Amino acid sequence: MSERTQKILEGMTLEEKIYQLEQITTSTYLPECNRIDIVTGPDSALKLDKELIFEVGTSLNLVGAETMIQAHDYYMEHSKQKMPPLFMQDVIHGHRTLYPINLGVAASFDRGLAKDLAAMAAKEASLDGVSVTFAPMVDLVRDPRWGRVMESSGEDPYLNGEMARATVEGYQGDMGKYNVAACVKHFAAYGAAEAGRDYNTVDMSERTLREYYLPAYKSAVDAGVKMVMTAFNIVDGVPCVGNKHLVKEILRDEWGFDGVVISDYGAFDEMVIHGASEDQKDSARLAMEAGCDIEMMTSCYARYLKELVAEGKISEEQIDRSVLRILDLKETLGVLDNSYRSVNVEESKRVQLCPEHRALARKAAEESAVLLKNDGILPFCKDVNRVAVIGPLGATGKIHGSWHCGGRAEETVSVLDGMKALLGDKVSYAPGCPIEYDAEDTSMIDEACRLAAESDCVVLCLGEHQDYSGEGNCMTYIDLPEVQYQLLDRVLAVNKNVAVALFTGRPLAISRLDHTAPAILNMWMPGTEGGSACANLLFGEAVPSGKITMTFPRTLGQCPIYYNHYTTGRPKLEEDDLKRVLYTSSYIDSPNSPLYPFGYGLSYTDFEYTDHQLSGTAMTAEGTLTASVKVKNTGKYRAKEAVQFYIRDVKGSCVRPVKELKGFEKIELAPGEEKTVTFTITEPMLRYWTQNLTHRSEKGTFQVFIGKDSTCKPFAEFELV
Ligand code: GLC
Repeated sequence: MSERTQKILEGMTLEEKIYQLEQITTSTYLPECNRIDIVTGPDSALKLDKELIFEVGTSLNLVGAETMIQAHDYYMEHSKQKMPPLFMQDVIHGHRTLYPINLGVAASFDRGLAKDLAAMAAKEASLDGVSVTFAPMVDLVRDPRWGRVMESSGEDPYLNGEMARATVEGYQGDMGKYNVAACVKHFAAYGAAEAGRDYNTVDMSERTLREYYLPAYKSAVDAGVKMVMTAFNIVDGVPCVGNKHLVKEILRDEWGFDGVVISDYGAFDEMVIHGASEDQKDSARLAMEAGCDIEMMTSCYARYLKELVAEGKISEEQIDRSVLRILDLKETLGVLDNSYRSVNVEESKRVQLCPEHRALARKAAEESAVLLKNDGILPFCKDVNRVAVIGPLGATGKIHGSWHCGGRAEETVSVLDGMKALLGDKVSYAPGCPIEYDAEDTSMIDEACRLAAESDCVVLCLGEHQDYSGEGNCMTYIDLPEVQYQLLDRVLAVNKNVAVALFTGRPLAISRLDHTAPAILNMWMPGTEGGSACANLLFGEAVPSGKITMTFPRTLGQCPIYYNHYTTGRPKLEEDDLKRVLYTSSYIDSPNSPLYPFGYGLSYTDFEYTDHQLSGTAMTAEGTLTASVKVKNTGKYRAKEAVQFYIRDVKGSCVRPVKELKGFEKIELAPGEEKTVTFTITEPMLRYWTQNLTHRSEKGTFQVFIGKDSTCKPFAEFELV
């Protein structure tokens, strides 16, 4: 709070204060949309006051610099307070230049890259008039049926926290002209929706909540994130937006967050549907008591806060505190001095999709891709005569993923475009089959096979439509459609030199593909430069280095399946994985092991891990130990490798996971080059949430692991004394 914002607050009527807590769509202020008459327009359900909508504090879903200027001018022309609104937008994995979906960026295991990407997105967004992005989304995920795994960083709390911090730092920087305020979401545990069905019930112990699901939000708060968005779901039976324990007691009192808290879209009204509040007035009371400052696209505060104050159920001081948080954010963003902030039509046009931004997006797509299988056919040789690009995802720009903000398919490099740019006119295309998950049309397979038969190699572009992931897009079947497998089998029958380029917003249970295809390169949804990155990777201009951060199951029947699980009292030993062992925690019809484990990803070269060292066998709480390993590139390609460090707490007053990621470092080695990678062990990294919800370490034995993925074995142990 500053004197300036305090003074502004004192000059506001109670209604004007209350309208600062509202958020409605930016299009309300675009005259040509004729939305200004909200009594009749699409927002009429909000029943907001036609004068006071020019005192609304923030708006969302902005598209473009000109639009922002138009909306800003229209708003300021009609506003009495002339208090500029903040324009907010879902800049999730790029603004106009799109980089891979966040599940892909996480697979890069590169904190610096994540930060650079967020900074690029912030620059493009700020020049378009965006002040706040509704990102990063840091929800921990374990169920690939959920459509929103694409915008998460995966199943590990530590990695999620590292990506959260890097992304907040990238977006916010020094809160300068080219930065935007970040908003960590969705607080909390939205990713634990039962059955992977969006908006579904979340139910877990507070210990599990704190051990797995809260750490990444805390990392964002510790990194200085300016805003927090509450989740749609309930936690412990109460919708997050009205959950006092979650928002007031944990986020504000325990973590010390005094920034802005915003609801998710319509969540105030949904409290009534959840059966958690009587009516909108009750929702307003519960949300204000919990400490939620802004309601997104509802009007509970607008309609009932004044009444609640009159009835003494809410104090004007509570409202003042929320208004001040918003005014302070506006002051931090500079809009009290320059209501236009950074918007600049000409500079925006120059910067968006500029060569530097495309180059960074391409680098991100190359570093995020995960080589899942390679029986030796990759990389393809460039001096072939004929290359076939086949498949429903081979010639489309719709590979930039959901939440594509200002990105456009026609500006996205398709695989065919990328191949032609790299190889010239020796590249031909055939669709092979439709993209729909329920497609049965096999009439195009013959043409595809003719093309494959006359080609030296085939890039088979399979996977899911980009609209099959993202918000509300959940799937009960997470394998390739039958028609894509028929295409694969028929093409393989005429040409063995086939590499599958997989496009997906989620882990897929592709056991059949793994069994059949000679090579599989998972591109995720790679963004604006996806096709050029794909071509570079398949033909060796770039070497794959991505590693998955969310387990790929053999079948959906194994889910939820994640690496940092508890051992149970009857574990099936790893060496028995392919055997049936009665009366162990296992299945009759499947191994326990996943198709691809957390941290897994291949390269065109090989890395040898030797000389694992631990600097001691005991450590006090004040001390440290170092764990190190030598990594050597024993192949013939210069390549990068994400070296992973895990710890296992062998015994605790609560059971502990079989291992937990505690460090990672991405290194680059030339052929024959060797490097020592070192990780420092400190007592705080050994802490966990014990039975009485104290966060502390416990003396005892710890095992240490360093390897290329989460299947690595322990090489030493130490005592915490
Ligand atoms: C959506 C999403 C949230 C997004 C918001 C604004 O429903 O849940 O992630 O930021 O609404 O678009």
